[in-house]
Amino acid sequence: YSSDGHSYITLKRKGEPHTLGPCVDQDLCDELCLIDVMEEKLKGEVMDLQHGSLFCKTHKIVGDKDYSTTAHSKVVVVTAGARQQEGESRLNLVQRNVNIFKFIIPQIVKYSPNAILLVVSNPVDILTYVAWKLSGFPRHRVIGSGTNLDSGRFRHLMGEKLHLHPSSCHGWIIGEHGDSSVPVWSGVNVAGVSLKGLNPHMGTDADKEDWKHLHKMVVDGAYEVIKLKGYTSWAIGMSVADLVESILKNLHKVHPVSTLVQGMHGVKDEVFLSVPCVLGNSGLTDVIHMTLKPEEEKQLINSAETLWGVQKELTL
Ligand SMILES: NC(=O)c1ccc[n+]([C@@H]2O[C@H](COP(=O)([O-])OP(=O)(O)OC[C@H]3O[C@@H](n4cnc5c(N)ncnc54)[C@H](O)[C@@H]3O)[C@@H](O)[C@H]2O)c1
Repeated sequence: YSSDGHSYITLKRKGEPHTLGPCVDQDLCDELCLIDVMEEKLKGEVMDLQHGSLFCKTHKIVGDKDYSTTAHSKVVVVTAGARQQEGESRLNLVQRNVNIFKFIIPQIVKYSPNAILLVVSNPVDILTYVAWKLSGFPRHRVIGSGTNLDSGRFRHLMGEKLHLHPSSCHGWIIGEHGDSSVPVWSGVNVAGVSLKGLNPHMGTDADKEDWKHLHKMVVDGAYEVIKLKGYTSWAIGMSVADLVESILKNLHKVHPVSTLVQGMHGVKDEVFLSVPCVLGNSGLTDVIHMTLKPEEEKQLINSAETLWGVQKELTL
């Protein structure tokens, strides 16, 4: 991949070692580099991961606070930043994390000018916009993890409801990662059988099966986990590893990730929101245009206006 023949993943580290587990375990890269400002903790995380290298597919794991160690990264996953406190909304985090991005994005660009940036830090849609602006990278190389996790949560809950494996339960949560995400009920299906076709009230208050509650559980899911264990880590780690795999192995899989949606579905503002996107080794190659209902498009436009309201106040 890179000029010296290696493919690197730089993970601006996650808080917990098991968040990185999925990436090191899946034969995704030759070398994994972690960066953090907390040197001692970083050293501890790196050592802990290295001690597991016998049991995983990425044997070269390094860490540093100096970004030169990340040079020639193919993918840079940015998870640095403050995380939500119990009950805190993702939007509340924004200014704290923008200031951190002003410090780290220029250094990533300096050492890996051809990397694909995958932003995970919250509020992820706004910070993906911030990373895009600060990096000067083309839009197809700046991607937010967006509603990839929300859709995973939905498919897990759908699987529990229907007693099926989540991979056989199809459904897309799009829009803003978080409180105003949009479930596309018309697309929910098992083996191509539309559930909305069987239950036309699906997703409405008149629905006796109360599918709307599943979406509420998706929205509340992160808050609940944070309340119980203090942070989220496993599912976000696994979902990010899945995105990285699609990129590095050039799989052309379709994922709900955050991209610049200006001009799509009536969105006028320069904002990033999740829609189904094709990922390969040049980054985001295509966007799948979903057939949305007018009320779904209205929800997307409302989210876009909320995000733009926050973005236009930022000093970048
Ligand atoms: N998009 C999602 O679905 C999703 C899911 C989980 C967490 N998150 C977000 O990811 C971010 C991190 O969450 P966490 O639980 O790992 O938090 P954490 O506090 O455990 O880890 C954040 C790390 O960032 C580091 N950091 C701070 N400033 C830095 C800088 N300038 N350079 C390098 N590193 C720096 C900190 O030292 C810390 O180790 C938060 O914004 C959180 O909301 C997003």
